[in-house]
Amino acid sequence: MRRHRFTTVTPSFGDPKQSKMHPDAPSFIPWFRNAAPYINAFRGRTFVISFSGETIEGKGFPHLLHDIALLDSLGVRLVLVFGARTRIERLLAERGIESRYHQGLRITDHSALEAIKTAVGSLQLELEALLSMGLPNSPMAGASIRIVSGNFVTARPLGIRDGIDLRHTGEVRRIDSGAISAQLDAGNIVLLPPLGYSPTGEIFNLRAERVASAAARALAAEKLIYLLEEEGLRTPEGTPVRELTVGEAEERLKKEEQTIPVTIAAPLACAIEACRGGVRRSHLLDSRIDGALLQELFTRDGCGTLVATERFEGIRAATIEDVGGILELITPLEQAGILVPRDREWLEMEIDHFCVAERDNAIIGCIALHPFPDEKVAEVAALAVHPDYRGEGRGERLLEFVEQRARQHGIERLFVLTTHTPHWFQERGYRIAAVEELPVTRQAMYNYQRNSRVCLKVL
Ligand SMILES: CC(C)(COP(=O)(O)OP(=O)(O)OC[C@H]1O[C@@H](n2cnc3c(N)ncnc32)[C@H](O)[C@@H]1OP(=O)(O)O)[C@@H](O)C(=O)NCCC(=O)NCCS
Repeated sequence: MRRHRFTTVTPSFGDPKQSKMHPDAPSFIPWFRNAAPYINAFRGRTFVISFSGETIEGKGFPHLLHDIALLDSLGVRLVLVFGARTRIERLLAERGIESRYHQGLRITDHSALEAIKTAVGSLQLELEALLSMGLPNSPMAGASIRIVSGNFVTARPLGIRDGIDLRHTGEVRRIDSGAISAQLDAGNIVLLPPLGYSPTGEIFNLRAERVASAAARALAAEKLIYLLEEEGLRTPEGTPVRELTVGEAEERLKKEEQTIPVTIAAPLACAIEACRGGVRRSHLLDSRIDGALLQELFTRDGCGTLVATERFEGIRAATIEDVGGILELITPLEQAGILVPRDREWLEMEIDHFCVAERDNAIIGCIALHPFPDEKVAEVAALAVHPDYRGEGRGERLLEFVEQRARQHGIERLFVLTTHTPHWFQERGYRIAAVEELPVTRQAMYNYQRNSRVCLKVL
């Protein structure tokens, strides 16, 4: 399934029949309004964001950091985890020390550990300096950001594998979530390096993505975000994969083990682990795209790969809370004469007959099923899919959903009255019928001026 960018943005509040924007209004107004629900939803939530040393050294990093600072100013509780692999490699090379690996894991001997301490320490200082910027006329003007780090991660050695001692390469043993939460409560950003300390007082080299995943689980974070140095996940055919449930992500990792590069497989596995451990959503993003973080977080369609515990999109019975969203969807179609006009009161009374396609808490499709139980017939009506989301089978899935419901209620025939879409229904098993084939009470209400086609299907 594809998560794609918005092409048109409809203001998501106010009565769509009344609102009219000034022709010279800046285009960011609708965008900003659409971001409002996300801003409200994110305030006070914990996000764990992980990025590599390569990203820190990249040209776009100051921009990324400004976006992170913006999240901080919007009240998001932030934990930043950074990697240091490229700088470690460089330092080791400069010192003439060969990097040694076993099963993809660094063998961290004494000299490697010294290089790691230097690399991690310098990156940490650089990050702290960048987050302290506050020059006038810069995006961080007025932002006073406090960043803290400490001995929040307890580690243990990975030990000996196939007879090879990995020395100071370790794994996360415990995250001091209480201490981190206290810092977040105080309004501080918490910075976690890819290091951990053992109760014996030793330092262990850890994988940044694993520290991030463990921290996200320990803190029951709302989001875990991996900023990569490449595009997110792609299908074997090369199409970007925009969203996956945890089960789908696991299956893909298993099936495409040979083709998914380790730089994506590793964070993806950690994203799955985090979602299994209670984190609602994990994201894989290309850090090289300017603004990727904001686009992913503040638009419905994002730009990376989302791994979520529950399906991002689904069809369900409508409730009274959906009336506003349905009106927003169908009003332009009513104004264009495609759907019969209905007012809010009618919709509120009939809401039990509606089903909606929901995507990230927004209504992007609807359909109604009005039964005539005596005749074992039902009318399908008000089928609509948001223009940004057409042509991907949603209309058909909505129709199948109500057909299934109709069967469950013993309905034997369905009909629909349509002026613009008879072919669409014919291609889905409906035939053109006469007005006389409608239930008698419906015939009495048939609008001969509108002259809709009657399409009928025997279930
Ligand atoms: C009709 C509608 C619900 C289809 O939604 P959708 O999510 O795009 O539907 P699907 O993806 O399942 O089907 C898309 C296919 O239907 C075709 N299609 C769309 N509108 C059509 C129409 N009026 N007549 C015939 N075919 C049509 C598309 O071309 C596409 O076929 P293709 O892939 O072969 O080109 C949507 O176009 C819509 O909201 N239209 C305005 C409201 C409307 O007409 N409602 C029906 C009144 S009851």
